[in-house]
Amino acid sequence: MKNQEAIEKRRTFGIISHPDAGKTTLTEKLLLFGGAIQTAGAVKNNKIKKSATSDFMEIEKQRGISVATSVMAFEYNGKQINILDTPGHKDFAEDTFRTLTAVDSVILVIDCANGVEEQTRKLMEVCRMRKTPVIIFINKMDRDGKDPFELLDELEQSLDIKVRPLTWPIGMGDRFQGVYNIYQKGLNLFSANKTKISDDVVSITDIYDAALDEIIGEKPAEELREELKTIEGVYDAFSRDAYLAGDIAPVFFGSAVNNFGVKELLDTFCEVSPSPRGRETDKRMVEPSDDQFSGFVFKIHANLDPKHRDRIAFLRVVSGKFERNTFYQHVRLNKKLKFPNPTSFMAQDKSVIDEAYPGDVVGLYDTGNFKIGDTLTGGEVMMYKGIPSFSPEIFQELENLDPLKSKQLEKGIRQLIDEGVAQLFVQQPGNRKIVGTVGQLQFEVISYRLIHEYGANCRFVPRNYFKACWITSDNEEQLQSFMRAKSNYLARDKDDNIVFLAETTFLLQMAEQDYPDLVFHKTSEFKLEIS
Ligand code: G4P
Repeated sequence: MKNQEAIEKRRTFGIISHPDAGKTTLTEKLLLFGGAIQTAGAVKNNKIKKSATSDFMEIEKQRGISVATSVMAFEYNGKQINILDTPGHKDFAEDTFRTLTAVDSVILVIDCANGVEEQTRKLMEVCRMRKTPVIIFINKMDRDGKDPFELLDELEQSLDIKVRPLTWPIGMGDRFQGVYNIYQKGLNLFSANKTKISDDVVSITDIYDAALDEIIGEKPAEELREELKTIEGVYDAFSRDAYLAGDIAPVFFGSAVNNFGVKELLDTFCEVSPSPRGRETDKRMVEPSDDQFSGFVFKIHANLDPKHRDRIAFLRVVSGKFERNTFYQHVRLNKKLKFPNPTSFMAQDKSVIDEAYPGDVVGLYDTGNFKIGDTLTGGEVMMYKGIPSFSPEIFQELENLDPLKSKQLEKGIRQLIDEGVAQLFVQQPGNRKIVGTVGQLQFEVISYRLIHEYGANCRFVPRNYFKACWITSDNEEQLQSFMRAKSNYLARDKDDNIVFLAETTFLLQMAEQDYPDLVFHKTSEFKLEIS
């Protein structure tokens, strides 16, 4: 099989969490282990400050910097690790959902005091939908938090996934002494150390070894033995196949800021996590080992400089080998394109590359050819599926404040929608543009960018919708009758699909009751279900 060695070597994943659980800190520690950065703080500085919720300049600055940290690649234990960054700010959740289509597995970070939080739940839903293998890291064990067993129950119940601890904490907060590595049978003792990588591992293969009592004390040793016994009794043995199928999530405990429990996580990750996987297209399943190159665009980043409207499209290579200066087929446009300066992203450095393999992410300079979800191939006409849009949560109507600039406004909003900044629903009559987002911040980003990059002045007027549902039906008559009755609440999305804009949960339920043959989809992923 072609490129087999390169494929086997790669691990492409994303780290996700509710804001503040420690995603940035963990990312940074993984980069430290991998030698990709030398000092702590490098990633941290790049993140959108949580306080700056309405500071455009901050957003602008971040947009520029975050290109560099969008993909962080490093080598560890003979593997090439590609971490795809996901924005922590909840207003950019849609961006995170799309990035999850480009990864092969995920590490989910949980704060041991807060347990499962709102964002955790939503992100896990996406992982479940796509059957993405998940490893859970329970962070901040140096602080008092919930009882570990209670946390495991909470994870299983709220996230609807089976869990299996592979390390186990010895105490927590002030009494935190370390973790016992159930998987590799070793004891890692805790020493709060934010700068150095701790390597203080004692190998205890038999937990009844008296050395354990000497090292951590008799009582904690007894407790640990009891707890490990309970774990073996309650939880199924870890099965890599079940993890790869997305049915069971191994759990690790640690403290990212103190470099603790991170090595156990990374070592096991390298051992069990999947190498690049294939993806479904509208024609066939494509495997990484297929000869011909193919890939899809999952993210588009506008240039920071408003005078140059070029952008960077992030392409995930799915099969074959991507090569510089080679013509590839842009399937949607039916056009051949070649790329003289494709870039890879190694921690903070961007560099031009000559080739890339399945699992890699390549940055392509773009002058407006790409939309999120586009497919590039070596010639085959097929499209990757399943870059979903989710129902937005906030809806506002876009009003033009300068009739002389309506062309610029039209162009600007279309391009921002292609970039995935927001979703656009067009209502007739009147071509009214309803912009939907998951957070208020996007409206500020859009207004700011429309004026600065396109010279178009606009205003947003809040519209009282609760959800956008994509409608499909096999019953044409019922569909037509629904469309007549609800014409004021219908719109078309960017691909001309029919969308119902429901004002309340109640009205949505009523519609579902009155039109039983219609399916009200909460995400545009339905295209995957029905084709
Ligand atoms: P995020 O990307 O998920 O939003 O979280 P981030 O890593 O920024 O971490 C959020 C806060 O939690 C940070 O504190 C960070 O230092 C802290 N933190 C991360 N891991 C641990 C841990 O293992 N133990 C403890 N006690 N704290 C941890 P901050 O005050 O917001 O920032 P900073 O001033 O410390 O940089």
